[in-house]
Amino acid sequence: MRKLLMAQDLGDLNKAVQEALEIKKNRYAYKHLGENKTLLCVFFNNSLRTRLSTQKAGMNLGMNTMVLDVNQGAWKLETERGVVMDGDKSEHLLEAIPVMASFCDVIGVRSFANFQNKEFDYQETILNQFIKYSGKPVFSMESATAHPLQAFADLITIEEYKKKERPKVVLTWAPHPRALPQAVPNSFADFMNEANVDFVITHPKGYELCDKFVRGAKVEYDQDKALEGADFVYAKNWSAYQDPNYGQILSKDMSWTVSTEKMALTDNAYFMHCLPVRRNMIVTDDVIESPQSLVIPEAANREISAETVIKRILEKL
Ligand code: CP
Repeated sequence: MRKLLMAQDLGDLNKAVQEALEIKKNRYAYKHLGENKTLLCVFFNNSLRTRLSTQKAGMNLGMNTMVLDVNQGAWKLETERGVVMDGDKSEHLLEAIPVMASFCDVIGVRSFANFQNKEFDYQETILNQFIKYSGKPVFSMESATAHPLQAFADLITIEEYKKKERPKVVLTWAPHPRALPQAVPNSFADFMNEANVDFVITHPKGYELCDKFVRGAKVEYDQDKALEGADFVYAKNWSAYQDPNYGQILSKDMSWTVSTEKMALTDNAYFMHCLPVRRNMIVTDDVIESPQSLVIPEAANREISAETVIKRILEKL
């Protein structure tokens, strides 16, 4: 394995989940794989879970791990080619990438959508520059369009908690005060479309996601109807993807907040969210604190999803 961006990069998803569950039983079993190997995690944006879980995964595998916060302590990086660099950015990514790559064996990159240019974002320009100019295996730690380590952890969690062979999984939009990227819902849809689940997406009109990720999944605009009989409710806010509103907030309708009343429409569903979450915007205190909330085990599984991916990369080095 040389890169991770989409579910298809993992091959047979069921096999990947079973491998992850085996790793979870003994997360230090592959410590020999990372001996004298270095993992570099490059962050253009903030993180709590990804930062800790990915480093922990690397350490479980016996790797040395390094973290670089671009724009905080390193030189500010220019990412676009052809720019006259007379501003506050001192170094270009095209020099920085090969320099970073010279110190490591595997690279994880967090680089969110900037919402300035949809084409720049949806071509995964920054992640692809790392792939092209580093010569090293590169995995997304949430890039412009996708968050595969999160979606893989979500799928592992669903596998652990499901009570039916083919559970109903509902991805629901929920309100938020700031414009957020589509990466998490994109990857969740990408992974659910490949999993053995009955998958439904619900959101207000105007929040349609990119076809590359939705791929014909059922979209139900009536949230109450979508939630009927659900086994898992996955809440997330995202900004508009479709033109001419790319990156904009179209609604802050609080009737979409996941509440006890909304959860009562489900089949005693589990509640999921990738975190961080804005309480009483996305989900009420009662729901996130309920026994049906999986937000903590879901976050803990980020260590396992990252370890499975890095293990596969190390096996092919
Ligand atoms: N879910 C997630 O990626 O969390 P962080 O942004 O804290 O890494």
